[in-house]
Amino acid sequence: MDDFLMRGLAQTTLYPLNLQVSHARGSYIHLEDGSKILDFISGVGVSAFGHHHPEIIGALHEQIDKHLHVMVYGEAQQHSQDLAAKRLLSFLPDNLNAVYFVNSGAEAIDGALKLARRITGRKNFMAMEGGYHGNTFGALSISSNQSRRAPFEPLLEGVQFIPFNSERDLSAIDESFAAVIAETVQGDAGVRIPQASWMKKLQERCHEVGALLILDEIQCGMGRTGKPFAFDHYDIIPDILCLGKALGGGMPLGAFVSSKSRMRSLAHEPDLGHITTFGGHPVPCASSAAALNIMKHLDWDNIERRGDRLEQVIGQNNAVIEVRRIGFFIAVEMESAEAVHFCVEHARKNGLLIFYFLSTPQAFRIAPPLNLNDIELDHGLTLLNEAFDAWRRAQLSQQ
Ligand SMILES: Cc1ncc(COP(=O)(O)O)c(C=O)c1O
Repeated sequence: MDDFLMRGLAQTTLYPLNLQVSHARGSYIHLEDGSKILDFISGVGVSAFGHHHPEIIGALHEQIDKHLHVMVYGEAQQHSQDLAAKRLLSFLPDNLNAVYFVNSGAEAIDGALKLARRITGRKNFMAMEGGYHGNTFGALSISSNQSRRAPFEPLLEGVQFIPFNSERDLSAIDESFAAVIAETVQGDAGVRIPQASWMKKLQERCHEVGALLILDEIQCGMGRTGKPFAFDHYDIIPDILCLGKALGGGMPLGAFVSSKSRMRSLAHEPDLGHITTFGGHPVPCASSAAALNIMKHLDWDNIERRGDRLEQVIGQNNAVIEVRRIGFFIAVEMESAEAVHFCVEHARKNGLLIFYFLSTPQAFRIAPPLNLNDIELDHGLTLLNEAFDAWRRAQLSQQ
């Protein structure tokens, strides 16, 4: 194997997928050897509108011909930033009317944590067991996986965790907390979908004690759950919303969104209280504006119909223990991490990309492009069933 990591790139794992990418179109990634692989994970949530979408590529070309970076964030008026913000806000309720663009999901989280401390003057954060928010020190501090945290401690002070989706534990949120942070639907925990009643009580408790509610929709936002934003499924509105991944339409972009009055507090005491050189870069903002326009015209009924079909067909295979799904956000639970590894590898070798969770080894993720068509869906299901059946046969042959 031509080990690309030996050529000077830093490693994140000893076992990379090592796909040798030539180009990507729609739901397929084309490889250097002439084969193609059906992308059932959308680049882990990024390519939600398919690869190389003509509207996104057109917007990028147009922006590149006008200008790249001209000035650090917040100092210059730039059309693509304004357009991306305007289109994003058109999906959001009135109290979410100011967007702070950054470069990644974890940066959006860090910005949101700073904003919450700045507004409330309080120190503590309540986070959720099973939550994953990224890998900067701030984002890691509120992520719960202990084995991922331990080597990098000490992390941010004042962080506590309660079980996700447990009403009984909400009483632990008190006046000492600047904010409570939760993924609206937990991704890395294996697509954990909370009860509407818990969400409502969570918001009520935050209001009672004056803590801000930060919802992380970096993975579950931008149409992934079958509505524009996951909190649209619940009768609540966060105080701060964090976005990333699909927001940039395939380019690096994150954002935290709050009210104008709250956001203004970052601009004084100290002046320039949160700044970034590249945040809101005009090129990712141009592709984001295009992606948001595509989201506006998504066929939500079709996403639900296809998501339901995935759920039903996968759930019928006896190699599968449980399917958890909301929209096109799916976790497939199997009997062991070994079974998951077998199926991910089998599928990949046969032309289907499914992938692991970081913290949930006995499940794998499916999050296809939201505009996947029926032919691609059926092709993916065939390859998935072949992988499950091969696993079953391998088990039987060992008995
Ligand atoms: C829910 C959630 N929050 C935050 C992040 C961090 O985003 P990024 O990798 O862009 O820093 C991720 C990334 O997977 C995520 O899934």
